[in-house]
Amino acid sequence: MTETNFQKITALREHLGASLAILGHHYQSDEVIRHVDFQGDSLELARRIPRLEARYIVFCGVSFMAETATLLATSGQSVLIPDPTAHCCMAGTAPTAKVAQILEAIAKTGRKVVPLAYVNSSVGVKALCGQYGGSVCTSANAKIMLRWAMGQGDCVLFLPDKNLGMNTASLLGIAPQDQAVVDVRGTARLDETTLSRKLLYWPGVCAIHFRLKPEDVRLVLEDDPRPLIFVHPECDPDVVALADVSASTSGIIRAVDEAPSGATIYIGTEDNLVLRLARRHPNKHIYPLGAGYCSAMLKITESKLLDTLENRDRHQPVLVEPGVAPNARKALETMLDVMEAEA
Ligand code: 13P
Ligand code: SF4
Repeated sequence: MTETNFQKITALREHLGASLAILGHHYQSDEVIRHVDFQGDSLELARRIPRLEARYIVFCGVSFMAETATLLATSGQSVLIPDPTAHCCMAGTAPTAKVAQILEAIAKTGRKVVPLAYVNSSVGVKALCGQYGGSVCTSANAKIMLRWAMGQGDCVLFLPDKNLGMNTASLLGIAPQDQAVVDVRGTARLDETTLSRKLLYWPGVCAIHFRLKPEDVRLVLEDDPRPLIFVHPECDPDVVALADVSASTSGIIRAVDEAPSGATIYIGTEDNLVLRLARRHPNKHIYPLGAGYCSAMLKITESKLLDTLENRDRHQPVLVEPGVAPNARKALETMLDVMEAEA
């Protein structure tokens, strides 16, 4: 009988033992996630890296997550991603050169600008954050990190996800008149009013969460009994305003675990996670709000994972340009330090 991919991966994991660690994000498919040693949201996955001793760290997620792992891993470790073209589309909405241009334009006005990048961003953008004394955040710690950043200078440039920025500003009670979305089409468009605000947003969004509109939520809220609505904070603030819970992927999982048996729950995030939660909780009625699948996450398949493991010494490890690595690492380590201080 021929061995299945599942059996081959299981045998390789047994053979490699402690020299291999497979990490996976909650948005991975079931056939991939069943092989991981550790599953988590972006923050949990990043915090796990410095504690790993494995020679091979195989990252089942999108490329910015694997780059973060490379920045936080030690020099003897190889970070491998089963498909290096699995790029988060939101990260692509903030090209490094454009971000540098906007930061320079703000700094020229004499204001101390502190960039705070969502980890869903390129290494170049993270390096700019380190260079300007800023940091990075995830959806799980955005509130802590934005509060920290607001105390570091005259204004914060939150990027690339304006929705996460606005939803977090609401939690912190930051007044609407202190916020503005930057017009990034040219520095000439940065008018004085925009630049005088304390909190500036890059106009990026996630194409998957962007699909969810307040009308989708209002429609299901008409059901009787009224369902619970759990969403990811990458959703539009008008969607979040209608939700019972807005949380990171791990936060959504916890909220579902804690929901009463028999509850009807609509979830506004990526479908791999929502449908897995529905299967895991047959005593609850769980439905996707309609965000769909993340095509970048779907690029990681079980057969590519097998190929990566079989060819681990020939597979190109995830590399970070040495010129930007120190500042990008600084931005990430600042986040980990702030989190440590909060714990
Ligand atoms: P989490 O950090 O909540 O896992 O989110 C990552 C992500 O890409 C959501 O779209
Ligand atoms: Fe990026 Fe959106 Fe996919 Fe998350 S769901 S990885 S933000 S494209």
